[in-house]
Amino acid sequence: MTPTDFIPKQDITKINSGEVTWQSPSNIALVKYWGKKENQIPANPSISFTLSNCHSTTTMKYQLKDNASNTGEFDFKFYFEGKEKEDFKPKIIKFFERIESYCPYLKDYSFEIHSENSFPHSSGIASSASGMSALALCVMSLEKEISKDLSEEYFNKKASFLARLGSGSASRSIEGPLVVWGEQNKIEGASDLFGEMYPYKIHDVFKSFQDTIMLVDKGEKQVSSTVGHNLMHGHPFAEQRFQQADDNLEKLIPILESGDLTEFIKIVESEALSLHAMMMSSQPYFILMKPNTLEIINKIWTFREKTKIPVCFTLDAGANVHILYPDNHKDKILEFINNELVVYCQNGHYICDQVGDGAKKL
Ligand code: DP6
Repeated sequence: MTPTDFIPKQDITKINSGEVTWQSPSNIALVKYWGKKENQIPANPSISFTLSNCHSTTTMKYQLKDNASNTGEFDFKFYFEGKEKEDFKPKIIKFFERIESYCPYLKDYSFEIHSENSFPHSSGIASSASGMSALALCVMSLEKEISKDLSEEYFNKKASFLARLGSGSASRSIEGPLVVWGEQNKIEGASDLFGEMYPYKIHDVFKSFQDTIMLVDKGEKQVSSTVGHNLMHGHPFAEQRFQQADDNLEKLIPILESGDLTEFIKIVESEALSLHAMMMSSQPYFILMKPNTLEIINKIWTFREKTKIPVCFTLDAGANVHILYPDNHKDKILEFINNELVVYCQNGHYICDQVGDGAKKL
């Protein structure tokens, strides 16, 4: 498919007003997206577990403008957790501008958008994946109302395509449990334009994988992902890194089928550390890990060595640590977390999540 496939071709029958609500999850990448080309095209393919408990719920009310009040501008109000938020508006305007040619009906409507997250606002958990995917799904529901016969496949692909234009990782939040985004030779259908459900066999162990998120630092990050991605332009290790991610994704194919957790852990932990190694070797360089991030990582390694329980960590672009493990070890791991790791979390806070199957219309 090409971007032009997402420009509506059929007649649009405008409807007066309506309302739609979507709940869309966050996701955690196993192979990381870090570096992009023009128009939100990833420099390398990535794959993520879709999460379940960490999600955004977004309601979009729409009202057809009358000709007199139509100034040819985007017209919307945005409320976050019940309060009108002017400071979120520029992000949404940018999103609408990026998707306008694919959603030419946007300026014909006035919108009221209400959004909230299931996770605390200041938890250091990025809300762009869940928030942007929920908004993209709301826009698609409007499109479905005004244009006839959108197939479910087209709906999901275009929702992911639009979400990507809002935030790259959001393209992987529409479906689950495993979503690939970015072309990869060995993965049929994998596209730079949208996230696709991982098409091959997945061992049962991964279908109920747990992700317990240790909230090491709830503050705002000093360097945003968008700035970090840009620092991959001219980065001395960029090409090797993009190749490494591509190779790691390919290596995951037999591992995801066999459920070989030893090999799974090697790739997932290496990806997390490679991501942060890119940050540390950018110009300017920066470090998003905190001392407690490293304390937790070392504790996990010691615990794994001692118990042989296949538990591992991954990191986002931040200090929080995602602890990944099969659900049959849940009791042991939670005991370990409570005994040894909560001291490294801000106010002892952590979030229990698990693999999920994607966004839901409410
Ligand atoms: C480290 O999707 O937040 O979480 O496209 O600029 O919005 P933008 O970036 P974003 O980057 C996420 C980076 C990551 C890795 C990943 O999720 O693959």
